[in-house]
Amino acid sequence: MAYKRKDLLGMKDLSKEEILYLLDTAQQFTEINERDVKKVPTLKGKTVINLFFEPSTRTRTSFEIAGKRLSADTINFTSSSSSTTKGETLIDTVKNMESMHSDIFVVRHAYSGSVKFIAEHTDAKVINAGDGLNEHPTQALLDMLTIRQSKGRLEGLEVAIIGDITHSRVARSDVWAMTKLGVNVRLFGPTTMIPKHSEVFGCRVCKSMHEAVEGADVIIMLRIQRERQGKLLIPSTKEYAKYFGLTKDKLTLAKPDALVMHPGPINRGVELMSNVADGDQSGVLRQVSNGVAVRMAALYILGIGNNKGGMDENAS
Ligand code: CP
Repeated sequence: MAYKRKDLLGMKDLSKEEILYLLDTAQQFTEINERDVKKVPTLKGKTVINLFFEPSTRTRTSFEIAGKRLSADTINFTSSSSSTTKGETLIDTVKNMESMHSDIFVVRHAYSGSVKFIAEHTDAKVINAGDGLNEHPTQALLDMLTIRQSKGRLEGLEVAIIGDITHSRVARSDVWAMTKLGVNVRLFGPTTMIPKHSEVFGCRVCKSMHEAVEGADVIIMLRIQRERQGKLLIPSTKEYAKYFGLTKDKLTLAKPDALVMHPGPINRGVELMSNVADGDQSGVLRQVSNGVAVRMAALYILGIGNNKGGMDENAS
């Protein structure tokens, strides 16, 4: 097995081989999701706890579905209805969950680095479901899986990531992973939302929407991450839509078969117009479908431990 780590915390530290192994495993799981009976006994007897300290629709639900399709006992912990509201610390919460012989924690938290901190304080496997503005590794994997299915490859593709790059953990994980796999990444957004010196991450920083979209194979649109911005970074959403939103007209600058993606939730009419989000070139809902396969792969790879058994002998 090419992946021998205890946890899945981010794309930054993974090798190209580890990323490809995760993608290839996820691709195999897409088949199970298309079956009539979408369940295999692979993780029977394992306990997966979804520890979400921030809101989520897609990630939490797809991790729950993924765990259940692998026959794991999957439990959802929501911080607002937990004893964290009574002052219990993060590590005390994790230690109490660990005492119930949990095998895998899937964690989303508002603070960058908090998921790594948890991983260092528990023997359970830990998957990062988004930590602050640091990383969202399973989103990067599902993005790349969707692109690879659509284009047949990753290497040499021109991928534009447009929007609030500074506050986006999705952008950060996408950039780390895609540049390792030979993707040419371009970034564009308001100057207040582009990290300084982005070129050092191997990305081209564009000066206009025209430059960002022209000739692109894939366009990933991001929403404004208001919950992570300390102050107002744009004059108005109307102006943002005019200069940074993707319309049908602007899309014609990209390759004719360009794929449009968005991690969700979409702010329709702001960064992405509805006729593009719902149009023929949209891969948004395919991203969501692939999210289940990617999360099954992550749970499977960590859940069976290193070099113990295989999917084929357990799948039915
Ligand atoms: N893409 C994503 O992380 O969506 P949720 O916040 O709904 O999980």
